[in-house]
Amino acid sequence: MNSTVSSNFFNLLFLFIFLTTIKAAPTFLYQVCSKNKTNTNSTYETKLKTLFSSLSSNATDNNEFYNTTIPSKNPSNTAYGLFMCRGDVSSPLCQQCVANATQTLSTGSDCSLSKQAVIWYDECMVRYSNTSFFSTVATVPNLLMWNTANITNQESFMKLLSVTMNESADKAANSSVGAKKYATKEATISGFQTLYCMAQCTDDLSPLDCSSCLSVAIGALPQCCNGKQGGRVLFPSCNIRYELYPFYENNTPSSPPSTPPASSAPPGIVPPTNTSSLGGSSGITSGTIVAIVVPITVAVLLFIVGICFLCIRGRKKKHDSAAARDPKTETDITTVESLRYDLSTLEEATNKFSEANKLGEGGFGEVYKGVLPSGEQIAVKRLSKHSGQGGEQFKNEVELVAQLQHRNLARLLGFCLEREEKILVYEFVANKSLDYILFDPEKQRLLYWTRRYKIIGGIARGIQYLHEDSRLKIIHRDLKASNILLDGDMNPKISDFGMAKLFGVDQTKGNTSRIVGTYGYMSPEYAMQGDFSIKSDVYSFGVLVMEIISGKKNSSFYETGAAEDLVSYAWKLWKNGTPLELVDHTVRESYTPNEAIRCIHIGLLCVQEDPDDRPTMATIVLMLESHTVTLPVPKQPAFFLQSGADPDMPTIQISQSDNTN
Ligand SMILES: *[C@@H]1O[C@H](CO)[C@@H](O)[C@H](O)[C@H]1NC(C)=O
Ligand SMILES: *[C@@H]1O[C@H](CO)[C@@H](O)[C@H](O)[C@H]1NC(C)=O
Ligand SMILES: *[C@@H]1O[C@H](CO)[C@@H](O)[C@H](O)[C@H]1NC(C)=O
Ligand SMILES: *[C@@H]1O[C@H](CO)[C@@H](O)[C@H](O)[C@H]1NC(C)=O
Ligand SMILES: *[C@@H]1O[C@H](CO)[C@@H](O)[C@H](O)[C@H]1NC(C)=O
Ligand SMILES: *[C@@H]1O[C@H](CO)[C@@H](O)[C@H](O)[C@H]1NC(C)=O
Ligand SMILES: *[C@@H]1O[C@H](CO)[C@@H](O)[C@H](O)[C@H]1NC(C)=O
Ligand SMILES: *[C@@H]1O[C@H](CO)[C@@H](O)[C@H](O)[C@H]1NC(C)=O
Ligand SMILES: *[C@@H]1O[C@H](CO)[C@@H](O)[C@H](O)[C@H]1NC(C)=O
Ligand SMILES: *[C@@H]1O[C@H](CO)[C@@H](O)[C@H](O)[C@H]1NC(C)=O
Repeated sequence: MNSTVSSNFFNLLFLFIFLTTIKAAPTFLYQVCSKNKTNTNSTYETKLKTLFSSLSSNATDNNEFYNTTIPSKNPSNTAYGLFMCRGDVSSPLCQQCVANATQTLSTGSDCSLSKQAVIWYDECMVRYSNTSFFSTVATVPNLLMWNTANITNQESFMKLLSVTMNESADKAANSSVGAKKYATKEATISGFQTLYCMAQCTDDLSPLDCSSCLSVAIGALPQCCNGKQGGRVLFPSCNIRYELYPFYENNTPSSPPSTPPASSAPPGIVPPTNTSSLGGSSGITSGTIVAIVVPITVAVLLFIVGICFLCIRGRKKKHDSAAARDPKTETDITTVESLRYDLSTLEEATNKFSEANKLGEGGFGEVYKGVLPSGEQIAVKRLSKHSGQGGEQFKNEVELVAQLQHRNLARLLGFCLEREEKILVYEFVANKSLDYILFDPEKQRLLYWTRRYKIIGGIARGIQYLHEDSRLKIIHRDLKASNILLDGDMNPKISDFGMAKLFGVDQTKGNTSRIVGTYGYMSPEYAMQGDFSIKSDVYSFGVLVMEIISGKKNSSFYETGAAEDLVSYAWKLWKNGTPLELVDHTVRESYTPNEAIRCIHIGLLCVQEDPDDRPTMATIVLMLESHTVTLPVPKQPAFFLQSGADPDMPTIQISQSDNTN
């Protein structure tokens, strides 16, 4: 116990030293550039060179913003460009950032020679185009980023965030003429947590334009960053960011933080707090108390009222149906009732949901291992409290989902709906989930080739059943390695299907404003427009296939900051005629090259940008089973991180889980 504490302490210390030492270098975030490129040695290229050197040389002298035009006799070769550094960034760092940005734009393989581009760093942004864009608001292309860690008390937090961000935005937009359009604002979340907000517009915007740009950015927060501990919305014309730690230097003492003097503590290390002083001391303003307490009270009241209403309605309904003696309704009720588990039984089975029994945390709640008095092992999923549905409807959906039975689906055994709990009971599988084994350097050896091939086929049949064979036509929407469970014989069982149904989300192809998938597995149309269909599941399946073949996480590519992801890497190998280099080293002895190539081929067909180019699950199953089916030639897949075409450059969403703070 003591040793973990001290090792944690040293980790923190190390991290802190590490963070302090790397602080001086600019941090690259993302770049988007037009696919239309100019030629080498063209006039426009020489203009761009001049533009870049003018921008970097003007980044000195306390300039945090600079725009310039490099004219050309032929107007179409005129280059327009600007840079902006975050308002608090020191002049040397700003200069370094702009230098790094212009260098990356001109020599990097992605953007060199592009007609237009934007590049974002933590500390600065640089943008150029062959068309004048000064004094106009641009919100595309854009970049949304969020910290994957959740905040407790999400509802009140989002209210506080929107109010505080709005104040920063107004302050930034309303700054005096000639001054930078930059503002920060802090607010106390609770006695020992502070919210840090920042908003900035490029200086060429009018106050009104700045305000409208920031309004759009603030409006995007619920979409990307709902309930998250940190988030950013980066537009070409303005950007906002919030975190629970100070990420900017507070060099404008005009707005003293409303917190106790915690700012001297290094980021991420919460100063020791005397709990007895939380309530009374000066830290919390009454405004914050109102902002937090009122929504909570209202939410609790509404919840209680809702529960009572449902109880009464539920009782009445049962009464009615019994009185009507409709035989069909009666059998329905008995079927549902046979799926019901008592809360006390489940508490006993899971040792009162003890930590020791916890198997993991899924998208919709925590999962525990349980043993029933009969000795049967179960997996118990305790749904997060604010799930969207009333009890009666929840029961109906459970009954429907419980009818989905397939050897490659985790079986839903029943549910519990008692007090405030909504619980789902599943069959227990022995080998946890695919990610647990596939990405573990030791355990991945257990998955020799024939097992991997069998897993791919099993997942395909499971999804095919969900899409086509079951009565319900379910789109999974969150297929990923952690949602594939493995039984004692390493047979795959898909879990978490039907969750959207249980949560009362419309299942038909449609447009959801809230995206539920996992970054890295989401198809571009789903991630960018919220369009989902069976073809978005096919995309996720393709990513899964690549992961199973390579033994590498798609997301690990993002974490290392590599310019390409697993899919682009696979495509590159395929194009070079060396697809087998993708195959995991641990199965190099056991694999069948033909099968591996076929899997990679199918994987690439699944991640095609146009959903219509992706095969259906039925076709995929056929392709896997019959080696005589000829497969179409894959086109270049959807490169999630590089699909920035100019006219309507997409929204790119990146979640960061880096946050050690
Ligand atoms: C890109 O260039 C192609 C031809 O070179 C042209 O047809 C297309 O319209 C250009 N796209 C944009 C956005 O200018
Ligand atoms: C561009 O110019 C350089 C030097 O002037 C020359 O060496 C190079 O071959 C040129 N490249 C092209 C593609 O014309
Ligand atoms: C700033 O850029 C202009 C061209 O836009 C250039 O003439 C000037 O020398 C630059 N300033 C500095 C300090 O380099
Ligand atoms: C910089 O932007 C302002 C505001 O739009 C514009 O009036 C000015 O001409 C620009 N400067 C240059 C050198 O292009
Ligand atoms: C800028 O480049 C794009 C892409 O090549 C072209 O379509 C557009 O006409 C150019 N704009 C100007 C003002 O020349
Ligand atoms: C930009 O900065 C990064 C470190 O943040 C460094 O690794 C890289 O070499 C720099 N690139 C250029 C072109 O200066
Ligand atoms: C902008 O600032 C002026 C005075 O500096 C103030 O009167 C006005 O109310 C402010 N507007 C907003 C929207 O904050
Ligand atoms: C902030 O809120 C006020 C009042 O609701 C609104 O008028 C203003 O436009 C908001 N500002 C921004 C930047 O969203
Ligand atoms: C908190 O502060 C009070 C008064 O300063 C002190 O009596 C108490 O011991 C402190 N509690 C802790 C846990 O440090
Ligand atoms: C945060 O909450 C969402 C649902 O609100 C969940 O899907 C996600 O896994 C949670 N993330 C973490 C890191 O707990």
